[in-house]
Amino acid sequence: MTRTSPRPAPKSFHVKSFGCQMNAYDGARMAELLEAQGMTAADGSGEADLVVLNTCHIREKAAEKVYSDIGRLKRADGSRPMIAVAGCVAQAEGAEIPRRAPSVDIVVGPQAYHNLPALIEQAREGRALDTDMPVLSKFGSLPRRRAQGASAFLTVQEGCDKFCTYCVVPYTRGAEVSRPWGDVIDEAKALADAGAREISLLGQNVNAWEGVDDKGRAQGLDGLIRALDRIPGIARIRYMTSHPNDMRDGLIAAHGEVESLMPFLHLPVQSGSDRILKAMNRSHTAAGYLRLIERVRAVRADIAISGDFIVGFPGETEADFAETLALVEEVRHAQAFSFKYSPRPGTPAATMTDQVPPAVMDERLQRLQALIGAQAHAFNRASEGLVMPVLIERNGKKPGQRLGKSPWLQSVLVDSDVALGTILDVAIVSGGPNSLQGVVAQAAAA
Ligand code: SAH
Ligand code: SF4
Ligand code: F3S
Repeated sequence: MTRTSPRPAPKSFHVKSFGCQMNAYDGARMAELLEAQGMTAADGSGEADLVVLNTCHIREKAAEKVYSDIGRLKRADGSRPMIAVAGCVAQAEGAEIPRRAPSVDIVVGPQAYHNLPALIEQAREGRALDTDMPVLSKFGSLPRRRAQGASAFLTVQEGCDKFCTYCVVPYTRGAEVSRPWGDVIDEAKALADAGAREISLLGQNVNAWEGVDDKGRAQGLDGLIRALDRIPGIARIRYMTSHPNDMRDGLIAAHGEVESLMPFLHLPVQSGSDRILKAMNRSHTAAGYLRLIERVRAVRADIAISGDFIVGFPGETEADFAETLALVEEVRHAQAFSFKYSPRPGTPAATMTDQVPPAVMDERLQRLQALIGAQAHAFNRASEGLVMPVLIERNGKKPGQRLGKSPWLQSVLVDSDVALGTILDVAIVSGGPNSLQGVVAQAAAA
C-alpha cells in the first residue's frame, strides 16, 4: 500500500484485551502509555482513531476471534480506525496477520508494546511490525502506574519453560523471566499510592519468580510477598498462576504466616490421570498434586483451591476422565476453569494420534463443569451465616449496591454506599452458584 501523505495521527484509542490476566495487565499498561502520549481513551472501538486488539492464542477459538473482530471494525461509511493487533496472536502469527487481514496496520508482540508510539508513527505511512522479545526492556520504558481501582494486577514474571505438550505459551511469551525485586516493589508502591488496596501478582508461572532483594539476599515469591505486605495501604495480596512443581516450602509457609496473603490458591492440575499428565509433560502426578494441597491446607485450613482442567487430551479414555472427576471430588475445588482440548499449531500434542472426538469432549466437559459448579455452589452456601471482610471494588447495578470480593475470591453483593476501596465486614445471607449476598455486619447485629 502506498500513500501520498501520511494519515493523521490518531488522537483517541481503545484497547480490547482477551485471554488471561497478563493480557489485561498489558492492556492497562498500553492504555497508560498511549495516554502519556496525549491520546485519550475512547468509550469503545466505534469512536476510537486507534483500536488495539490485545489477543490470546491459547485455544483455536480465541485465536480465530481476532479475524472476525477486525472485520467488525469497518464502519458504515467504509472508513476504519488504525488497527493494531497485539498480544499472543501477534507473537505467534506475526506477518501472517496482515496477509490474512490487510486492514491491520500494526502487529506488536507482548514484549514489544512499549514501542507502540513509534509503531503508530510508522503506521501513518505504511505498515509496522514488531515481535521482538528483548528481555524485560519494556517495563523500563513504560510510564508510572496510574489508578487501577481497589484491586490491581502487577506482572512479576513472564514466560514459561515447562513446555506442556498442548500449550503455546512458551512460544508466545518466551522463556521464564522474573522482574527485578526493586522494580516490583516500586510498582506496588505506585499502585498503593494510586489507591490500590489489593495487588494480584501475575505470571504464567508466578511461583517460579526469583530475585535478589535490596540487601543482596536471594528471594523467592514468598520473600516478595512478605515485602509487599509491609507496604502501607496494601491490605490484600494474591498471586496467579502457579505451577505445582514451583510450589516451594517458603511459599506454602507464607500462607500460614502472612495475614494479607489471601486464602486462595489457583493451582492448575489439568488432569487426574497420571498417564495423561505424562503425555501432557506436566512432570507431576495426581498424588503429588494432592499431597501439595494437603500441605497447604495444613498451614491454612480454610484456603480455597482453584484450578484449570483440560478434557479430551489425545488418548484420554473414559477411565482417565473418571480419575479427573475423582480428583476434583477429593480436592473439593472452590472454583475451577475447564476447557476442551484444542490442538495448537506447532505443539507436540497437535500431531499425536488418537485425538478425542468432539462429541466425547463436549460430554466430558459438561460432566466436569456440572461437578465443579456443584462444588462451587456448596462452597458458597457454606459461607452463609459468616461475617467476612469484603473489599468493595465496584458499584452494583442498582443505586446503593456495592460489589466486592471475599478473601476467598467470591463475588459479594451488599446494600451499602461506602466508598470503593473500603474493606467492609459483611454478614453473608445467601450463597448462590456464582456469588454471595450479604448485609453490612453492624446492621445485621442491630
Ligand atoms: N501457566 C498456567 C496456565 C496457562 S494457560 C498453567 O500452567 O497452568 C491457562 C489454561 O489454559 C491452562 O491451565 C490450560 O488448562 C488451558 N490450556 C492451555 N492450552 C490449551 C489447549 N491447547 N487446549 C485447551 N486448553 C488449554
Ligand atoms: Fe502452558 Fe504448561 Fe507453561 Fe502453563 S506450565 S503456560 S500450561 S506450558
Ligand atoms: Fe492467552 Fe497469551 Fe494469556 S495465549 S492465556 S493471552 S499468555
